[in-house]
Amino acid sequence: MAEFVKVANVSEVPDPGKTLVEVDGEMVALFHVDGQWHAIDDVCTHDGGPLADGELRNHTISCPRHGAKFDIRTGAALTMPAIRPTRAHDVKVEGATVFVRLREEPGSAGPAAHALPIQATGTAGSAQVAASVPAAATPGAATASATAAASPAAGQPLCEDAVRELLKDVKDPELFVNIVDLGLIYGVTLSPAADTGGKQHVAIDMTMTSPACPAGPQLIGDTKRVLAAHPEVSAVEVRIVMDPPWTPDRMTEAARDQLGIF
Ligand code: FES
Repeated sequence: MAEFVKVANVSEVPDPGKTLVEVDGEMVALFHVDGQWHAIDDVCTHDGGPLADGELRNHTISCPRHGAKFDIRTGAALTMPAIRPTRAHDVKVEGATVFVRLREEPGSAGPAAHALPIQATGTAGSAQVAASVPAAATPGAATASATAAASPAAGQPLCEDAVRELLKDVKDPELFVNIVDLGLIYGVTLSPAADTGGKQHVAIDMTMTSPACPAGPQLIGDTKRVLAAHPEVSAVEVRIVMDPPWTPDRMTEAARDQLGIF
């Protein structure tokens, strides 16, 4: 187990207050609230934002990048887009000196205040990726997170509204919320396909909650499968667009209800 390391003098951090300290080569956000001391990794689990630079309110720190909130006592992720806890550490005060000891596991202080599962992590930046698949080459079987056959829109004439309705069958495998209500669909473009008997080419502009979202390949694949199953679709193209970046306010009220965000 790691040793306690001296990180600050009590007088250096007001109550309430916060500071950034280094412990065994790692950057840690140190908090002083209501006479108590807390320490968590200076890393937002959404996309690496510097938590010590965020706004502190009571026992909650807001990531300065996209606004995810964390409980400074446990490291629990309280709001989207972070859903995985950051690591909380042990703190002790002896005399006028504050010590921190690194823990190994995130959330080892106790039960997380927010019960959402795993989350996407990545690095800041933007990217654009295009991928296209002919409808005929797409396997008919959908994965567990895409259930095209269940959608009433599968039998409707193809239009933008029908496409968006179909895409509600594609769910983020970690959040269990569909990609339309998550606000990941930036655009739907339909264009007639040549020599395909009136079928249409469908292009989807889709974003991710973070540039390196691990669910990305699955969401792209499920999107193609769901749309390609429609009889009027000749081919599906999915373009990943990171500009403008996704923010939680793109979620619908239904998604917020589902995630317990108020
Ligand atoms: S990096 Fe913290 S909310 Fe996105």
